[in-house]
Amino acid sequence: MKLIEVQNYEEMSKVAAKTIIEQVHTKPNSVLGLATGGTPIGTYQHLIKDFTQNNTSFEKAISVNLDEYIGLEKDNPQSYNYYMKEQLFNHINIPENQTYLPFAKSIDDEEAGRNYEKLIESLGGIDMQILGIGENGHIGFNEPGTSFSSTTGIVKLTDSTREANARYFTKMEDVPTHAISMGISTIMKSRKIVLLVSGVKKAPVLNELFQAAVKEDLPASILKEHPDVTIIADQEALSILKENKGSVYS
Ligand code: F6R
Repeated sequence: MKLIEVQNYEEMSKVAAKTIIEQVHTKPNSVLGLATGGTPIGTYQHLIKDFTQNNTSFEKAISVNLDEYIGLEKDNPQSYNYYMKEQLFNHINIPENQTYLPFAKSIDDEEAGRNYEKLIESLGGIDMQILGIGENGHIGFNEPGTSFSSTTGIVKLTDSTREANARYFTKMEDVPTHAISMGISTIMKSRKIVLLVSGVKKAPVLNELFQAAVKEDLPASILKEHPDVTIIADQEALSILKENKGSVYS
């Protein structure tokens, strides 16, 4: 894992956007794996700014998102479909029919995961996957204990993940209990992975990621076995790791 240390959220966002822009310049028809949540919002703002100022074109790009809640319609403002349109797609020139998010009708919709796997395969796989990390080490919505061989499917969200995401909902009961998420093995097949980590709340898990062995209790630890992972982390996120003298960063 390559670590890029940055000062703060703003710098993380700029560096991440630059990485994506370079990818699209090098391969205009890149398949980009995208994430939601608070972490990539600044990155998307920089992509929009660059599109407006420098005309970087996403006309040939294809996006596949990591996950979506189950039980929220696509036009629900809390859905990740809505988020992606608001935060990025409506402001750049990626054609709508080249943007994909997983979608499951219910928590029994097993077909949905298989279909998403087939879709990613038919697109030739993911060129660059952007990831955030949960405070419990999840990637996508693959919670601790998920098999490293998991493929896209229905997942049950832990109470801690529902609590962390409750900030976007009026009340806790409104936070969905399940989601459909790209599997860990699906994420690992991406040719490049960029993990964004910002803020003091992520300092314990980032420290654990570097210190701990690869284990299913820490889903992100599998990234150590991927040949092309770049972590862009800010000073707050790195604060515990840097305190631990002698830690090896890569
Ligand atoms: C989002 C996703 C999640 C988030 C993670 C961090 O699509 O798959 O793994 O990246 O929960 O969320 P934030 O960025 O809100 O801290």
